[in-house]
Amino acid sequence: MKEQHFFNRHVDFALTCLSGHEQGKPFHPTLHAYFKSNRQFGSRDRRTIKNLCYNWFRLGYSFSALDKKDQLLLAHVCLTTDTPEWMTILFGPFVLPPSWLTWELSERLAFLEKTMDWKLGLVFPDIEQVSSQVDVDQFIPHLFKQPLVWFRCKNENEFDAVCAKLSDLSIKPNGARGIQAGHLLESSGVSKQIEIQDYSSQEVFKTLNLEGVQSVWDCCCASGGKSLILLDRTKSINICASDSRKSILSNFIKRTGRHRYRVWSAVVNLSNSVSKIKFESKQSTVEITPPGFDLVVADLPCSGSGTWNRNPEFKSLQSSSVQNYIALQKQIVQSAWPFVKKGGRLLYTTCSVYKAENEDNVKTLDLDGMEVLRQGYVHGYAHNSDSTFFAELKKI
Ligand SMILES: C[S@@+](CC[C@H](N)C(=O)[O-])C[C@H]1O[C@@H](n2cnc3c(N)ncnc32)[C@H](O)[C@@H]1O
Repeated sequence: MKEQHFFNRHVDFALTCLSGHEQGKPFHPTLHAYFKSNRQFGSRDRRTIKNLCYNWFRLGYSFSALDKKDQLLLAHVCLTTDTPEWMTILFGPFVLPPSWLTWELSERLAFLEKTMDWKLGLVFPDIEQVSSQVDVDQFIPHLFKQPLVWFRCKNENEFDAVCAKLSDLSIKPNGARGIQAGHLLESSGVSKQIEIQDYSSQEVFKTLNLEGVQSVWDCCCASGGKSLILLDRTKSINICASDSRKSILSNFIKRTGRHRYRVWSAVVNLSNSVSKIKFESKQSTVEITPPGFDLVVADLPCSGSGTWNRNPEFKSLQSSSVQNYIALQKQIVQSAWPFVKKGGRLLYTTCSVYKAENEDNVKTLDLDGMEVLRQGYVHGYAHNSDSTFFAELKKI
């Protein structure tokens, strides 16, 4: 059968493509390079190969008793809704019943739990380490589908114009808009009017109380997504931003410059304590000694486990690296804390769902005058987005 023959070849292509992927690195560049060096593939071929690979990352890799080809096939027949019967027969190790074709995903997974030495929890590394505030029964199913791409309008007055250019928008009360992954935002002519930013980040930063806040230090700023959302909310605040990576700061400066925002920046490694920081803008330099800020935003380096629904290829992360993140998060917060003014706050935030990086780490912070004002999660499964943890710490 022609269709079956093509599918079998696609499985082989997907296996070749996966074999070129380095664990722990983004998969997209590998896929891109593979398609670039195999120009014979049409768009349908590319879509099938891509789906096979991502279904393996989402589910297949957890079937450790099977060989890789069977892992790939089984994940694909599980996660594809309109599976043709011949595809289920291609899978050899055991028989998938005829009712498989009509089953929901949950029924298929329950069948696999009964039939083979496998448990659903294996699809997420160290599932028992996930926070008890996360409902695992909702969390696991949302790992099997790509979340929406969330963005916000830089200027709310342009909301109608942006909506008119895009269809199938999900719109949240906080102003976040979501669109199916793969929708070409660039070619829709809206790229100048929007900022891509996940719903969960938008929720944390749009609900942050900025009353009385004049000075902010974004101490892990990367290219400045969080500074921008704060500046878009309140242009009157002064933002100093830093990161340990010099290369990423130039993105920050370009990005805030495009918006004509005046910001100060510095390269600062917070693995060790610092006594003063020299921040620079185009016009001036300011030297800040503790305590300098009403609000410190610590958007910390982390496992990224709250985004593994979007990037399932990172699920291979070793628990030893999680331990390293936990220590680094603590060091960064300890180094930043002296710069919080009395009565001021530090926002501790990660895109992790592991309790050790979040509530457990916050619990063991030994900071002078620290009071936890509020903490919690924005759950990706509730919003078709990534997950974010936040804790607002006040200096009393
Ligand atoms: C989660 S990212 C921040 C994302 C950013 N806030 C945004 O909105 O795009 C964490 C950042 O922490 C930085 N970082 C890692 N180790 C650091 C350290 N020791 N001191 C300061 N920054 C560090 C990383 O370079 C990375 O850009």
